[in-house]
Amino acid sequence: MEFISIKEAFKKKGSVPVRGWIKRKRELKEKIFILLRDPTGELQCIIEPKKIDKKEAEKLARQGIEASVELKGILKEDERAPNGFELIVDEIKIIGESINFPIQKDLSEEFLLDVRHLWMRSTKMQAIMKIRSTALYAVREFYKKENYFECSPAIITPNACEGGTTLFPFKYFGEQRFLSQSGQMYLEVMIFSLGKVFGLTPSFRAEKSKTARHLTEYWHLEGECAWMDMYQQMDEIEKMVSFICQKIAEENPEELKVLGRKPEELKAIRAPFSRISYDEALIVLEKKYKKKVPWGIDLSIKEEKTLSKDEKIPFFIYGYPTAIKAFYAKEMPDPKKCFSFDLIGPEGYGELCTGGQREDVNENMLKKLKKEKIPLENYQWYLDLRKYGSVPHSGFGLGIERLLRWICKLDSIKDTIPFPRTMNRSYP
Ligand code: 4AD
Ligand code: MG
Repeated sequence: MEFISIKEAFKKKGSVPVRGWIKRKRELKEKIFILLRDPTGELQCIIEPKKIDKKEAEKLARQGIEASVELKGILKEDERAPNGFELIVDEIKIIGESINFPIQKDLSEEFLLDVRHLWMRSTKMQAIMKIRSTALYAVREFYKKENYFECSPAIITPNACEGGTTLFPFKYFGEQRFLSQSGQMYLEVMIFSLGKVFGLTPSFRAEKSKTARHLTEYWHLEGECAWMDMYQQMDEIEKMVSFICQKIAEENPEELKVLGRKPEELKAIRAPFSRISYDEALIVLEKKYKKKVPWGIDLSIKEEKTLSKDEKIPFFIYGYPTAIKAFYAKEMPDPKKCFSFDLIGPEGYGELCTGGQREDVNENMLKKLKKEKIPLENYQWYLDLRKYGSVPHSGFGLGIERLLRWICKLDSIKDTIPFPRTMNRSYP
């Protein structure tokens, strides 16, 4: 039998063969009502046990939700049915039994994480994972259109890119190595050959904090471009984020509704995004929100929330104090500040992305490494990039899960990734 998807079945007349999983099942008088689900939709199926094979009817009687079945029947229009159609079944075959499926109603977040492998079938997770897939395709479509090359930086690395506190060290044939925190430095290598590059890789952070925004393993979208300054890099990012939002609004309106996000809200995400300097952000915090932050202190999630809670569109803050940003950030003409920016999510979602122009002068980079007491031996290759044909360049890193948390309007970042990894969770 040639099975068709539920979505295709709605367009067919006559007898249709479909297959999937039982999402709901109830018995009423002489009939069994099944809500069948597959990756494309849901279909109400009506079975009269007397009219089907006796053995299958007995088996069906024992099944709970999530049994897998093959069905054949006649599709009938019925306005009371969930999608306006129901299937009057004349053949059914139970493929995989399911008795006492562990997930019933109202279970705690921790329990649902324990049974993540089964919870992934829920309407909510299905919606999020479809949106995630759209986002990942959109990233590649955007960069292809903009003539970037996709690169694959190393994951096993001798270098700390984002400081020692969140590194995952391990022994690598007798030497100390780390899981990558960022592919940035490797992408910087690639621009000398390819000009504009991006990477989409896992990054690892030994985050000991339990927050709604941190994972220990996350997917990192990073871009790096030769001959590009910080302002041009922000232009690129706002175009890319707008493109992803438009794609999701177009391709996933139903999934967005499941999550309580209106597709129109994403359609409204269009470049250009607004930009304020760090200095201006401090003034807004003080004048508008009566919060005084001393110059030189990093903006925490508290300040980001305050600044973004009434915003509907992401915005940039740029020109942060040099002392709080990484060693590779290029100083502005006023060396207390650097060409570094964060993209802040609206509605209180906080930092989505960090980027900026890189220090491209070898002596300056050496000074910075020494000042921060970073051992030079593993950075010689990185310094070589400044020694041989250095160019002004800039880049960024964006956490896919941070972006999805905002797009999907989720409380926790954990629901944006199939198998979240945190300090106290690495199962299943
Ligand atoms: O701000 P970060 O640490 O910047 C970098 O890693 C740069 N080297 C990137 C670059 O310029 N190529 O991390 C970049 C982004 C953050 O803005 C955030 O979206 C995400 O990565 N991120 C995390 N996402 C989930 N869990 C964590 N623990 C994250 N840490 C950072
Ligand atoms: Mg950052």
